Amino acid sequence: MPIKEFLSEEKIQKRIKEIADQINKDFEGKELIVIVVLKGAFIFAADLIRQLNMPVHVDFLEVSSYGDSLETSGVIKVKRDVSLNINGENVLVIEDIIDTGLTIKKIKELLEIKDPSALKFAAFLNKPESRRVEIDVDYVGFDIPNYFVVGYGLDYAQNYRQLPYVAIYYEEEEK
Ligand code: XMP
Ligand code: MG
Repeated sequence: MPIKEFLSEEKIQKRIKEIADQINKDFEGKELIVIVVLKGAFIFAADLIRQLNMPVHVDFLEVSSYGDSLETSGVIKVKRDVSLNINGENVLVIEDIIDTGLTIKKIKELLEIKDPSALKFAAFLNKPESRRVEIDVDYVGFDIPNYFVVGYGLDYAQNYRQLPYVAIYYEEEEK
């Protein structure tokens, strides 16, 4: 397989507990609407929200920019919009990975129009080197170099999402 383990299951689960502790502190005594960005964030979100103490409502948003390629097309389309009313609510958007930042910037614009009282972002992975637009991420699992990664929800052409760890994906078999 053209993949190589990069972040172990154990390391991921330990980090998720730390992020959840932080979110539990920041939103103590409040309610949260969690918006899971499909498809890649579904496993991270499932693990993260099970560590949260406050009442949580869950919604989903699906956007696309990549198709089956390794590079962003730069054009972000909403494939499924949120269905809950987030006006006046505390919202936490959960993303799989932030690369250029274009997706999260677009999502921020789309959700701000709906006027939530707080709008925070959690990303499982972050690639600071490939950023093309300035954006603030409130909770980051791991900063990683500019590799294409799969597993733990992340795919290459829809494959590898079920891996419990994160792996680097190589376009050719590693010699
Ligand atoms: P941007 O560039 O808009 O990209 O910040 C965010 C979206 O791009 C996808 N993406 C990846 N998917 N492995 C993946 O499986 C990667 O290394 C990777 N880098 C970016 C992802 O869908 C994310 O939401
Ligand atoms: Mg993808």
